[in-house]
Amino acid sequence: MPDTPQISELAVEAAVQAALAAIAAAPDTAALKAARSAHAGEASMLAQLNASLRDVPNDQKAALGKLVGQARGRVQQAIAAREAELAVAEEQARLAAETIDVTGIPVKQAVGARHPLTTMMEQMSDIFLAMGWEVAEGPELENEWFNFDALNFDPDHPARAMQDTFFIDPVERHLVLRTHTSPVQIRSLLERELPVYVVAPGRVFRTDELDATHTPVFHQMEGIAIDKGLTMAHLRGTLEHIARSMFGEGARIRLRPSYFPFTEPSAELDVWHPTFTGGARWIEWGGCGMVNPNVLRAAGIDPEVHQGFAFGMGIERTLMFRNDVSDMRDMVEGDVRFSQQFGLVV
Ligand code: FA5
Ligand code: MG
Repeated sequence: MPDTPQISELAVEAAVQAALAAIAAAPDTAALKAARSAHAGEASMLAQLNASLRDVPNDQKAALGKLVGQARGRVQQAIAAREAELAVAEEQARLAAETIDVTGIPVKQAVGARHPLTTMMEQMSDIFLAMGWEVAEGPELENEWFNFDALNFDPDHPARAMQDTFFIDPVERHLVLRTHTSPVQIRSLLERELPVYVVAPGRVFRTDELDATHTPVFHQMEGIAIDKGLTMAHLRGTLEHIARSMFGEGARIRLRPSYFPFTEPSAELDVWHPTFTGGARWIEWGGCGMVNPNVLRAAGIDPEVHQGFAFGMGIERTLMFRNDVSDMRDMVEGDVRFSQQFGLVV
């Protein structure tokens, strides 16, 4: 090595001080690694001083050798200590970066709002649950048999055209988008032991045009009660209770004779709408009646022993009457500002 430095106590101490300063100043493990190779590596000043020992007179070799050895030891120790220090600091920084302050004010994205129809169906279901009824569901894509045949709609009877139906291709599969929630009547009777007290809220579909009081996709709340000795008085009492729960104690209902293949006798259920835009009047809310014996037979029930009633009302209509929504189109447009007006409770 041509430029081998002269070893001396001073030179060794200077090299150690330079090394210690660089080690202490290293801000992270990468910088420390660089300091290690600069001050303790093969090309470092200390390594060179060590190499220069060979040119030292023999009588000084031992003393200077010890000096440079101790110096290298101090530097190695300083590196190890700084390394440990940095490891702790870096771990702490990482943990700090990952910390979640559970008491902090959350930065939230604006949330949407539950649709008032959903809230309203839950509220109506709760009223029935409180009376001991069960809540059931049925498929929206329904077998024609459940939607019509089991409900006593004759294959050729014009009643089948009463509800404008979306049939699913291929027609041989006999699948329809259910036109009412009434098929859940049959499903409930087939699935349950008697007596049966079931409500079934859900979405239904008809080829109706969208206007202020109709939509092609809407919601109904079905109800069916089958027990011994049920009469039209029980039906009326139940309907009055749900009407008062939804529209207030002063709510008035009316049963108007009508026809449904699956009930006999049948009635339209009207509610009195005192604030209707065109003046106070009765408005149809749903249909109802005593379950037709043919329907009971289709579900394997003996009509001589068990009887009951069923009803189905429109949920959109309920929201219209209850909250004075004059145009049903507002309910289907999906504008969150509409839903937000209702808050969490309808
Ligand atoms: C029925 O759907 C029968 N399943 C009701 C029933 C159930 C009768 C049980 C007897 C026993 P209707 O087609 O009238 O009946 O419809 C019932 C209610 O759904 C209507 O009174 C109305 O409130 C609502 N409705 C009907 N068509 C629409 C529509 N296009 N848009 C919004 N609501 C509608
Ligand atoms: Mg009707």
